[in-house]
Amino acid sequence: MVTGERAAALLESAYQELRKARPEGAAHYDRACKLLPRGTTRARFWEPLPIYVERAHGAYLEDIDGNRYIDCNLGQGALVLGNSHPAVVAALRAQLSRGTHYGPATEQAIELAEMIAAAVPGAERVSFTNSGTEATMAALRLSRAATGRRKVAKAEGGWHGANEYLLFSYTSVSGPLEHPEANVDSAGVWQRAKDDVVVLPFNDEAAFDRIREVGEELACVIVEPVLGGAGCIPASRAYLEGLRQACDAVGALLVFDEVVTGFRLGPRSAAGRYGVTADVTTLGKAIGGGQPVGAVCGRADLMELLVAPKVGVAGQAVVGAGGTFAGNPMTVAAGHAQLSELLSNPAHHERLERLGERMRRGLEEVFARRGIPAHVTGIGSMFRVHFTSKLPESPRDLVEANGLATHLLRVYLELEGVIRGMGFVSTAHEESDVDQVVVAYEAAIDRLEEEGCLEFATPEGFG
Ligand SMILES: Cc1ncc(COP(=O)(O)O)c(C=O)c1O
Repeated sequence: MVTGERAAALLESAYQELRKARPEGAAHYDRACKLLPRGTTRARFWEPLPIYVERAHGAYLEDIDGNRYIDCNLGQGALVLGNSHPAVVAALRAQLSRGTHYGPATEQAIELAEMIAAAVPGAERVSFTNSGTEATMAALRLSRAATGRRKVAKAEGGWHGANEYLLFSYTSVSGPLEHPEANVDSAGVWQRAKDDVVVLPFNDEAAFDRIREVGEELACVIVEPVLGGAGCIPASRAYLEGLRQACDAVGALLVFDEVVTGFRLGPRSAAGRYGVTADVTTLGKAIGGGQPVGAVCGRADLMELLVAPKVGVAGQAVVGAGGTFAGNPMTVAAGHAQLSELLSNPAHHERLERLGERMRRGLEEVFARRGIPAHVTGIGSMFRVHFTSKLPESPRDLVEANGLATHLLRVYLELEGVIRGMGFVSTAHEESDVDQVVVAYEAAIDRLEEEGCLEFATPEGFG
């Protein structure tokens, strides 16, 4: 059994190995640690040693030490077509020569909004933000304004960006399943927000009763159709349909957070795939082609609340929105290029499905062949490995996951030349890349087994 000192020694030795493999990167990190808290703005993702990137192309990324990786992080999922797709690069170049940031409007932003409206179920109006976080903030504000109610409900494990109202129960779960507690998972959040947050079980019908219980106090339910940060766990269709019915029953709005799944899970996003339509949808990542982006879209009557007050109409209450860079031309150019390419040919999504399936099957085969208690979750082009005794269907199933093995797996994968991140493939990946990733997993698993890390559980939460 690996505990305490032995676990610390394994972590330290993995860290030293990374430093040895990336001397330039290690020097950068030491410099960064003097200035950036924990050395990077995305510590959680890249501990213990961030990769300092030199360049990225297609399915690959190269660090400043010359190490080459198969990229399964893909800009946290934004790069559905892979790194530096020629169409996206050309669009950015063309925009660059015409100005990088204006303030006033552009025609291309209308075209991008038209593409989104034509594709995403229920997206009758679209409003751009700078990030997914801002989009979820706007969605909550909109829901409260439209219903005149205070409370918002989110699912356990749901990550909706660093949104003050939703930094609850995204890395932990507690309380009875039917009535989860709202865990404050981030220090420094406005404590009173907790009074207005209702946490729902994920993938469990107890959520529907909970919604009915909160009833007319509830402004909206926000949910990821596939939990991304909490382990690539797809919602069941019955769960999303049940949320839809329960929301309708109490007059609350249903918000799909499709920041990850939007356009990744199919041309009509997760809503199209599941056949369930939300009142409001938040988007990000894929619609920006690798530039910072977000969008909130939905029913016209709701979205009209986002317009600026009419000049001379006193007392007209509208939902505050906007941002210096929202809908900026570089983002719009890249997003327009990525979506145009993606939607122009059904073969792209077919390829994403095929590669994702190949990855999940390949990994499952490794675990089955070797009798390792691990499970693979995911859907479409998303995948994740869990060291759990059963296939996780909710964050509650991750509580017993082997945290040490999970952490070391990611590090060992990097040493094997794979960046896992959230766990994605792109259209730029070849089948041989997927097979190579599976081989890298097996090598990493070999090592974990040799070190005795797979024999026990060291629960450390999830996310
Ligand atoms: C489902 C979901 N919603 C919202 C966000 C926040 O988006 P951003 O990081 O662009 O603020 C994320 C980020 O990963 C996400 O996964």
